[in-house]
Parts: sequence; structure tokens; C-alpha cells
Amino acid sequence: MENPNRYEIAWLPGDGIGPEVTREALRVLDAVASAHGFAFTAEEHLMGGAALDETGVPFPDDTRAACQESDAVLLGAVGGPKWDDTTGDQRPESGLLALRKALGVYANLRPIRVPEALASASPLRPDRVGGADILFVRELTGGIYFGTPEGRTDDGARSTMVYTEAEIERIAHVAFQRAQRRDGHVTSVDKANVLEVSELWREVVSEVQDEYPDVMLRHLYIDNAAMQVVRDPQQFDVVLTGNLFGDILSDLAAALPGSLGLLPSASVGGTVGLFEPVHGSAPDIAGENTANPIGTLLSAALLLDELGEPDAADAVRYGVDAALEAGFHTSDLAPNDEAVSTSTFGREVASRAADHTHQNASASLS
Ligand code: NAD
Ligand code: IPM
Ligand code: MN
Repeated sequence: MENPNRYEIAWLPGDGIGPEVTREALRVLDAVASAHGFAFTAEEHLMGGAALDETGVPFPDDTRAACQESDAVLLGAVGGPKWDDTTGDQRPESGLLALRKALGVYANLRPIRVPEALASASPLRPDRVGGADILFVRELTGGIYFGTPEGRTDDGARSTMVYTEAEIERIAHVAFQRAQRRDGHVTSVDKANVLEVSELWREVVSEVQDEYPDVMLRHLYIDNAAMQVVRDPQQFDVVLTGNLFGDILSDLAAALPGSLGLLPSASVGGTVGLFEPVHGSAPDIAGENTANPIGTLLSAALLLDELGEPDAADAVRYGVDAALEAGFHTSDLAPNDEAVSTSTFGREVASRAADHTHQNASASLS
């Protein structure tokens, strides 16, 4: 193919299972690239605990520069017991917050659906979770993660939840616009019965809704929302949350399909998009080649969507579904003696994603 689109991906494997799962995502991207008329480079950069060990900081300046100059950032995970005694700016997790802030990616999109092949992997009743399809729109660069004052005091510690009207407005627009392309329903989650910042959240979200008469809006308190996500997930379409509530609710919702390892995310709205699975570094299974790479593979699909390669993104999603349907499961979804490794699963997805690409190409030629 002449003059393929060429993308520079900043690859931040990070810690724990991060290297294992991102490697598979690159394998699958490689499997679909040329047939879809694009090429990419994936330059590796230090991030998190690995960066701290090597350079003394979790988010080195050259990693920052490389991310800002890239077309997209693919991240594994950061943190782990080795660095649990670090504090403040030294913590691997604070490096991740600094990366999100540096890129300005205020909108964290966390889609959750329950693939048919997995309805029985859920700890919940298949008839309740089957067909659940939720998009969490989580505010990512504000709220209690970033508010001041913060830190230790003489006799305690404080963290402050702050949202400006402008921060709430822009994330609300993202939620309503996504809902327009889905089932037209937004549930906004807050704690407006207690927190002033949530009172403002509720007011501003309702005002923004005036611009989207085709989208229904309802407000739920976070405590009730948590219960409803488990009790009846099919009632949700788009769920709009602040930073902390979205973090908690999306891990909770991972129990619907049955594993945290399944959930992808895209963080957008800034200069360059950041794509990472929802899970962390999973120190309990790191280095074993047993982690589920699906969250990262689907994050790579979101990356392709964002770069304007929707057919390649669909091929990746097809590959994941087809590998699951063919009975390939990692150990979070199957008994150990039936489970395949991270890399085997990645290879099974890659070959199916590539076949899908070729089948579609020959169909359009005939
Ligand atoms: P975790 O998400 O790493 O793990 C929680 C549980 O889910 C573990 O039992 C783990 O084995 C399992 N799990 C997670 N991903 C999996 C996968 N792909 N396949 C199979 N099982 C998987 O959460 P944690 O244990 O609370 O945190 C560990 C470290 O990761 C901490 O340092 C935390 O701060 C960090 N963390 C980082 C990110 C990130 O980088 N985005 C996100 C969450 C947590
Ligand atoms: C996530 C993680 C991060 C967050 C941590 C590691 C900073 O839990 O991406 O969900 O809370 O945003
Ligand atoms: Mn989290």
C-alpha cells in the first residue's frame, strides 16, 4: 500500500503485568496494521515504579516529551508492593496522575459489556448481566485527586474535592454526546445530599442537558448507584461520574462480565489520547504470563478508533470475541488446567483479527 498512515505510539509498559499485557496489544496491532493501510512505531518509555528505579522519578521528563509528541499513548499499569513505602511525587501512581494532567485528558471512557461467551463467567445471574452495556464517562483530571489544600497536617491529613463549573460542563458534554450515539440515556452520579461540590455537579449537569433534548437524564446518589449497578445493570446506558466515584464504580462493574482483566479505557479530550486497561499491576500474578490481556487489547481497539481507524478497531474486537467463542480463556475466566497463557491468548486474537481483515478485504473486492 502506498503512503500508509503512520502512527507513533508511545509505549509505557510500566509495572507488574503491564509489560505482559501491552506486549499482546502490540502483537494484535501489528496483525491488523498493514491490511488496514497503516503502519506504526511503538517506542518504549519508562513509567511508574520501573521509572523510579531507573531514574529516581516515576514520570521522567523524556517520557513526558515522548508522550506529548506521540499520536497516542499505550500504558500497561503502574505501582506495586515494591513501591508502597513511597509517598507524594515519588509514588508510581502520582506519576500516572501527572501523565493524565500533562496530556489534559479529562474524559476517561470505560465501556463495559458482557460478551455472550462470558455470561456464565459472571458471579451474577446470566439473565441479569447478559446484554449489559454501559459506558462510564469518568472525569479524570479534577476532583478529589487534584484538589488543594492536600497533604498531612500536624494532627491529620486532608484531601479536597474541587470542581469548577467549566470542568463539570465539559465532561457533561462528553457524556451527552456519547449518549446520542448510544441509547440516549445518561445517569449522573453524585453525593449531592451531602457534598456542596456534588450540588454544583448536579446543577451544571442539568443545565447542560438543556442542550440535548434528545437525551434523557437522571441523577443518582453514589451509594444507590453502586447497588443498582449490581442489582440491575441493564438499566444503564451512559454513567457520568466525577473522578473518585468513577474509579470505584468501574471496578465494581468489572464484576458484571466477571473479571477486571476485561475492561479497557480511553482517556481523551486533551492533546494526545491515553489508552490503558482499567486494572492495575496485579502484583499477585505478575511475571506468570497468566494475566488476561483483553482489557489492553480492547484499549488498543479504542486507540484505533481515536486515530480514525474504525475498521481495524472492529477487527481487533472481532478477534477478541472469536478467541473467546473458540474457548480460549485466561485463568481469571477458566480453571487453571483449562486456561491458556497471556501470550497464547494474544496470538489467538492476533490470527483471528488478521483473518477477519482479509475476509472483509476479499468480500469488498468480490
Ligand atoms: P489490581 O487491579 O492490580 O488487581 C486487583 C485484582 O484483580 C487482583 O487479584 C489481580 O490479580 C486481578 N487482576 C487485575 N488485572 C487482571 C488481569 N489483567 N488478569 C487477571 N486478573 C487481573 O488492583 P490492586 O491489587 O488494588 O493494585 C495493585 C497495584 O496497581 C497498586 O499499586 C495500585 O495502585 C496499582 N493500580 C494501578 C492502576 C493503573 O496503573 N492504571 C490501576 C489500578 C491499580
Ligand atoms: C485507575 C487507577 C488509578 C486511578 C490510580 C492508580 C491512580 O485506580 O486508573 O483506575 O485511581 O485513577
Ligand atoms: Mn482504579
